[in-house]
Amino acid sequence: MSDINDKPSEQEQLNVKLEQANRQLLQSEKLAAIGQLAAGVAHEINNPVGYVYSNLQSLGTYLDDLFRLTDAVDAGASLEDLRAIKQNIDYSFLKADLKDLLAESREGIERVKTIISAMKDFSHIDDEEFKLADLHRGIETTLNVVNNELKYKANVIKDFGNLPEVECISSQINQVIMNLLVNAAHAIDDFGEITVRTQCSGDQAIVEIVDNGKGIAEENLNRIFEPFFTTKPVGKGTGLGLSLSFNIIQKHNGSIAAENAPTGKGTCFRISLPLKQPEASPGNQQG
Ligand SMILES: Nc1ncnc2c1ncn2[C@@H]1O[C@H](COP(=O)(O)OP(=O)(O)O)[C@@H](O)[C@H]1O
Ligand SMILES: [Mg+2]
Repeated sequence: MSDINDKPSEQEQLNVKLEQANRQLLQSEKLAAIGQLAAGVAHEINNPVGYVYSNLQSLGTYLDDLFRLTDAVDAGASLEDLRAIKQNIDYSFLKADLKDLLAESREGIERVKTIISAMKDFSHIDDEEFKLADLHRGIETTLNVVNNELKYKANVIKDFGNLPEVECISSQINQVIMNLLVNAAHAIDDFGEITVRTQCSGDQAIVEIVDNGKGIAEENLNRIFEPFFTTKPVGKGTGLGLSLSFNIIQKHNGSIAAENAPTGKGTCFRISLPLKQPEASPGNQQG
């Protein structure tokens, strides 16, 4: 009789194995998401870097032209000659274009700076501590990081309410928001709209991600949080994004739920997070 209690049963051993496998899969989903992000960020940075580079080349040519003019002044050229050179180098165009080139290059560099600081914010993956965080800042960061996935699929509308800081592991909440945004974009066929809405309700912070995509079939609504549940073709979906998100929100003592828009067009994901973690909650323990 006591045998049964001393040794873990076969069922218990299986459960432990399953738990391990689950953890490994979630880890690989995380890595896949990071790979996808890296590709997106490379693409986002490539464009501004490309035109800043070509602007620098134009700047070089313009400077050569301007030096021709100043050198001619040094060489004591006649006023007529100087005017001829000025006309020859298309001085007025050059003057206007220089301004444009500099403005455009500055904008490009700003864009790269924004992406890099978003990546920095985003990459505190090992940071497993609950801290007070500004959810809006996290959402902005995440939007910047997934901009490449979203901009061809949807207008993103930010409808932010008043939110106090929320006690959370912000890198993990960012990851949930990212999963929801990418899913929303995937659900849109041509070009649609994604709304990110926030509000405070009692002691809960609410974040809603609403899309006007194809919606979730009624019979799938209670399956989407299952690991491996996907309606996407092989290679496109892992079916782990929402189950990972569910685990993260659970660890935060919050809730996440999906419902189709009453109009039958699109889906709303609603996350509810306690502003403060209950003392000695499972979420506050290490592990
Ligand atoms: N915004 C959405 N609109 C429609 N369907 C969705 C949406 N978000 C999730 N789904 C459904 O839930 C499934 C599971 O999502 P997820 O766990 O992120 O896995 P994956 O995106 O890899 O399929 C998706 O395959 C899709 O059928
Ligand atoms: Mg997904």
